[in-house]
Amino acid sequence: MDEILQKRVLMIPAPFEGHLPSMMNLASFLSSKGFAITIVRTQYNFYDISADFPGINFFTIDDGLTESDMSSLGLLDFILELNSLCEPLLKEFLTHKDDVDFIIHDEFVYFPRQVAQDLNLPKMVFSASSAATSISRCMLMENQDKWLLHGEEARSKLEELVPKFHPFRYKDLPVTAYGSMERLMLLYRNVSKRDTSSGIIHNSSNCLENLFTSAAEDTWGVPVYLVGPLHMTDSATTCPSLFEEERNCNNLNCLRWLDKQGKNSVIYISMGSLAMTQKEEFVEMAMGLVQSNQPFLWVIRPGSITGQNSLDSLPEQFSQTVTHGDKAFVVSWAPQKEVLRHRAVGGFWNHCGWNSCLESISSGVPMICRPYSGDQRVNTRLMTHVWQTAFEVEGELDRKIVETSVRKLMVGDESKKMRKRATELKKLVEDSVSIGGSSYGALMSLVDSIMSS
Ligand code: UDX
Repeated sequence: MDEILQKRVLMIPAPFEGHLPSMMNLASFLSSKGFAITIVRTQYNFYDISADFPGINFFTIDDGLTESDMSSLGLLDFILELNSLCEPLLKEFLTHKDDVDFIIHDEFVYFPRQVAQDLNLPKMVFSASSAATSISRCMLMENQDKWLLHGEEARSKLEELVPKFHPFRYKDLPVTAYGSMERLMLLYRNVSKRDTSSGIIHNSSNCLENLFTSAAEDTWGVPVYLVGPLHMTDSATTCPSLFEEERNCNNLNCLRWLDKQGKNSVIYISMGSLAMTQKEEFVEMAMGLVQSNQPFLWVIRPGSITGQNSLDSLPEQFSQTVTHGDKAFVVSWAPQKEVLRHRAVGGFWNHCGWNSCLESISSGVPMICRPYSGDQRVNTRLMTHVWQTAFEVEGELDRKIVETSVRKLMVGDESKKMRKRATELKKLVEDSVSIGGSSYGALMSLVDSIMSS
């Protein structure tokens, strides 16, 4: 233990809701093993989480970026700018600090890579997503020309399977809703440079994607550690949310409302922290949910509906259902992990963010996938064609499609089959994080690797 205490690890998370909690779970684990952990955070999206992580040190880099920079640049250019600004700041910080032995950084904050190299510090990349996603970015870079096609030629090409990347089609590769293809390629080139790292850590499990683990090892030639789902490890601590102020009374009351609903009867709808919905689609969604006659719990994140700032202009029938009925509950942010674990929740309509996928899998809840951007397409294909605990709703939504999709997920034979598979998959991930399981073993190998670096 004395020797372990000497290793000091600097961890640098990406400042986004879908990234920080999983890295903090890894930090808690490493801290529980005796490593001295310092978390370096950006000023952008900063909120204080230190009280929830006693024993871990925190330092903030003053990148000077604000929410209005994010709005004017868009997510893609914002991430590129964040990396350019932070590289010299981290170098300055580390030049005056001689107590760092190892660096772990999120794949989207790649600025520590050069700094670590200059200072001769070993480093690893942490991906809050799957190994399949990492490979899919390389596939997209190799096949960008497919997105230059037009009309019918483009449509049929994108439906084809990507060679040596079964079961993904070109259209499942992680293109973005947040900027141009050219800027995305620049970002992915930066994110995908990994051969100088001593390893790649994924918040995923071998039982979910062992095929892609070996493919990732072949691609980068370094060890790949599938250590997740990290929120299921014994040392996991709930990281306060960026949307913490949304943990208001009404939002927490959704759990009491769920207590009154029948087993597996409620469909939970949430689109994560970034995805947007067009107003027309939102109205069709609202009416389809009402028409499905299935109880629903819906997270409507403030500002997440393009062209609508409040719920006032929703159809009367929807407002009546939400205001007066027992059938519906609307919140601005939900305690999602608790919601998914609740016995009343029988289905999840989601954009397929990786954390949401892992949380639905670890709760045994089948899903409807409606991917919005990036890795969500990859995750959707994994859910629908590898694990088969979900189906995708593609194309333009109308209320009838919503109604039939909800009923398909919640009742009937297909629903039973998906629920059975989801229950089996839940058991597999539980085993993987338990002593003797693959994720547990990967965490232990990671400890050994940092120790011997
Ligand atoms: C982003 C990307 O969009 C996603 O594709 C990538 O895989 C991770 O980073 P996000 O879109 O926010 O994440 O989705 P997701 O990965 O699902 O993360 C959302 C997190 O917020 C989940 O941990 C979920 O539990 C939490 N959440 C969401 C809540 O706690 N309450 C809510 O109401 C909604």
